[in-house]
Amino acid sequence: MGAQKARQPMKAFAVAEQGAQPAHLDIDIPEPDPGEVRVRVTAASVNGFDLAVAAGWMAGFFEHRYPVVLGREFAGVVDAVGEGVSGLGVGDRVLGVVAKPFLREGAFAEYTTAFADGGLIKAPDDLTDSEAASLAHTGSTALAILAAIGDPVGKTVLVVGATGGVGTILVQLAAAAGAVVIATGRTIDGRDLLTELGAAHAVDYARLAASVREIAPHGVDVAVHLKGDPGEFAELVKDGGTLISPVLFSPDMFPDQERLTAVPIAGYPTTESLERLTGLTGSGDLRIIVDREHAFDEIAQAFGAYGHETLGNIVIRIW
Ligand SMILES: NC(=O)c1ccc[n+]([C@@H]2O[C@H](COP(=O)([O-])OP(=O)(O)OC[C@H]3O[C@@H](n4cnc5c(N)ncnc54)[C@H](OP(=O)(O)O)[C@@H]3O)[C@@H](O)[C@H]2O)c1
Repeated sequence: MGAQKARQPMKAFAVAEQGAQPAHLDIDIPEPDPGEVRVRVTAASVNGFDLAVAAGWMAGFFEHRYPVVLGREFAGVVDAVGEGVSGLGVGDRVLGVVAKPFLREGAFAEYTTAFADGGLIKAPDDLTDSEAASLAHTGSTALAILAAIGDPVGKTVLVVGATGGVGTILVQLAAAAGAVVIATGRTIDGRDLLTELGAAHAVDYARLAASVREIAPHGVDVAVHLKGDPGEFAELVKDGGTLISPVLFSPDMFPDQERLTAVPIAGYPTTESLERLTGLTGSGDLRIIVDREHAFDEIAQAFGAYGHETLGNIVIRIW
């Protein structure tokens, strides 16, 4: 079952031990456990989760089995199949996430392992490797936010931090579902992109309150917090409205709780969510935006660029 690659070293961007900085290390190629496949990774994209693991912030939430390889969202080709796997075979081009109950394998590596059933599907031919690597984690999070919006028809939805991986997908989904989307972008290019993706209004977050009040003088129905301080824009939501955040993980962290419904979001990719997303990319109803690609040895630069004036996703090319 593909055991020929066992025990050889591979390059991985990993944290060697508690408190260490992530670095390119030579580690053993992982073997797929029952229910898993091993994937030769072609591309992986950078997410806030990866920076949080690198900074040690996930220590209280996940068991770390060192060396911990960073990287969650990826595309690649199945290279070995664990016991009990059906539906995926060696040579299949896939996209998905590494989402185990502990941290050890990751996508910033020549090979990773992932559950075959749940967070991984065959990648459609119409997506490039970089696009395929930018959809599972971000897109599933956007779908969870869309579900939290409820019936979006006619609702005014403010998306703060809309130019990144999650926001560029969410803006398209919410606008197509009938919401009036007000999306933030710092640069003119960012705001132009958001309008192209379906936002009714694109505003600079440097003057967020004034711009939103001009557009929605009585307040918005929903605000989605992807970046910035929600304490600064919760007041823009109508009484009885909703504040949604994949950044705050507990309702008691939300501002204005007595006035607004607080919805923390955790994006968990499932086969269903991934197939829904690839169905939309296939029909031309969803564009996956890749800002730039970095070589595997440039991960530190890619981490430095994440979160600042990027349009969509930052991708690391592995093979
Ligand atoms: N809980 C979960 O399951 C989950 C899953 C995925 C993501 N997340 C979180 O969701 C958030 C969004 O993820 P992402 O990958 O889309 O992030 P991202 O790629 O960094 O995009 C966010 C965008 O926000 C803009 N921005 C920066 N500072 C801002 C500010 N003060 N106010 C408004 N906008 C600002 C930046 O573009 P401009 O400055 O050019 O406008 C940036 O490109 C992150 O915090 C991430 O960690 C959580």
